[in-house]
Amino acid sequence: MAEIFIDKLPRLINVSNLILGHFIEHLGMCINNGVWTYKKTEQTLMQPPLDRVRTELFERISSLRPPIIRYPGGCFSDTYHWKDGIGPRSSRPIRKNKAWGGFKSVFGLIKGFNIGPKEKNHFGTDEFLTLCEKLGAEKYININFGTGTPKEAAEWVEYTNGSLNTKYGKLRAKNGHPEPYNVKFWGIGNEIFGWWEKGHCKTGDIYGKKYLEFAKEMRKIDSNIKLLGVGWKSDWNRSFLRVAKGYVDYLTLHLYLPTINIISYLLGWRALPKNENVYYSMLNSPYLAEELILKTRQDIISTLGKNGLEQVKIAFDEWNIWYRWRQVYRADTPHYNLRDGLWTACMINTFIKQAETIGMANFAQMVNVLGMILTYDDKIIVNPNYLVFKMYSDVWLKDSSLLSVSVKCKNIISEQFANIPPIMKPVLDVAAMISRDKSKLTLFCVNKHLNENIDTCIKFSDSLNFTPENVIGYILTHDTPFAINSRENPNTIKVQKLNFVCNNDLFKYKFPAHSVVVFQFLGK
Ligand code: AHR
Ligand code: AHR
Repeated sequence: MAEIFIDKLPRLINVSNLILGHFIEHLGMCINNGVWTYKKTEQTLMQPPLDRVRTELFERISSLRPPIIRYPGGCFSDTYHWKDGIGPRSSRPIRKNKAWGGFKSVFGLIKGFNIGPKEKNHFGTDEFLTLCEKLGAEKYININFGTGTPKEAAEWVEYTNGSLNTKYGKLRAKNGHPEPYNVKFWGIGNEIFGWWEKGHCKTGDIYGKKYLEFAKEMRKIDSNIKLLGVGWKSDWNRSFLRVAKGYVDYLTLHLYLPTINIISYLLGWRALPKNENVYYSMLNSPYLAEELILKTRQDIISTLGKNGLEQVKIAFDEWNIWYRWRQVYRADTPHYNLRDGLWTACMINTFIKQAETIGMANFAQMVNVLGMILTYDDKIIVNPNYLVFKMYSDVWLKDSSLLSVSVKCKNIISEQFANIPPIMKPVLDVAAMISRDKSKLTLFCVNKHLNENIDTCIKFSDSLNFTPENVIGYILTHDTPFAINSRENPNTIKVQKLNFVCNNDLFKYKFPAHSVVVFQFLGK
């Protein structure tokens, strides 16, 4: 029988509530005809200023209780001038999408490959921030470092956070929102190390110097804002932090698996092969995220000293499975399947386990583009990765600390696939948190085995001082790990509720093959 043993950690480590964060970008169908519909629709719509947001979509997003949403990009942010997206919609300019529109001429021959439609700018700052307010989500804006200026970025901060005595605070009031939005999180640049990014910097040092010009202007307007700088490889991270320290609250990381090679994106798989090797390779691959986090953590500590993590945390602000270029237009060719849902759960578990270093994570992306939610003219469907977010957020504990989990079970040895090396990891992937008042304890579990159920005994250490009384649980599974929710059959995969009574401090459960299970134990 497998065993999960849950214990206190020697030191209290808080788990950030921002781990279950999201991201939306002006790319493909994420905002255009996703979050914001330009089409005539029979579906009910929200009230102004969200009058082109479908009520059903809002409800789907709202039921995830997103803790934070990042906007407007991604690559798009490094070309976006925010003043294009405020004021009366009829006078907002129509612009080419400079980050993504270029691909149109190359792929325009292939129907549906227009990933950068013209940007009408009807969804802009006020629409985004109102959406966040209605959802109760923190707001995270990525400013234009690529083609923008420090002055333009500072004016954006003033527009969102400035009082009515300021020029842009007044403009915000005129546009219908007298109260400041108090946007706390501001990213300066996106993937600025990459050749594909407008404003591309060759070294962390060059980036750091330019970053400081932005950071200083922005902090002059609001000294309370949290700033996010672009992280990458070690030498980049170290030289960037050396130059910009004191002005960096988060170092960002991005990871898309299984590959990041552009040739494979274009010519590679139409779908990931549905065989055992690829299945296990994918489900062990969150190990690569863990490695990246540990390496970056070392960069922070070795540059800023042993208290470095008190100053700078990692924001894993883009992560997902991405294997086919077309998924950035819309993610229903093909849909993410249950295996991808299991992968999503293993990634979130990784972030929880690295809570000391991870301050935030944002799934890329929320709607249509690599999306967990897909919008069709007549209906909205959710992928298994959405259902994982739903399960996790339903048992998430705000104000919680990390627990140590030791798992005794068999290992899965996965083979090389694409850029994922052979990896050996336990078949059960588990993370745990406890509420500050110790009244609730949540366990997040994935049984990665393709076809074996795993009989498990779950034990709590005495030192935890927690006696479970009741358990609620939710499970996500299906006969096959490759099942999907499609337009025709949108409810093939569903979250199911489990109910038990817990037998004091010992609890037995048989984890079904390829399942995600979450438990919340309620203390006495
Ligand atoms: O999420 C899609 C794109 O992937 C983002 O714009 C970019 O930052 C990343 O390369
Ligand atoms: O090959 C790099 C990819 O191409 C990046 O992830 C994406 O942003 C770019 O367009």
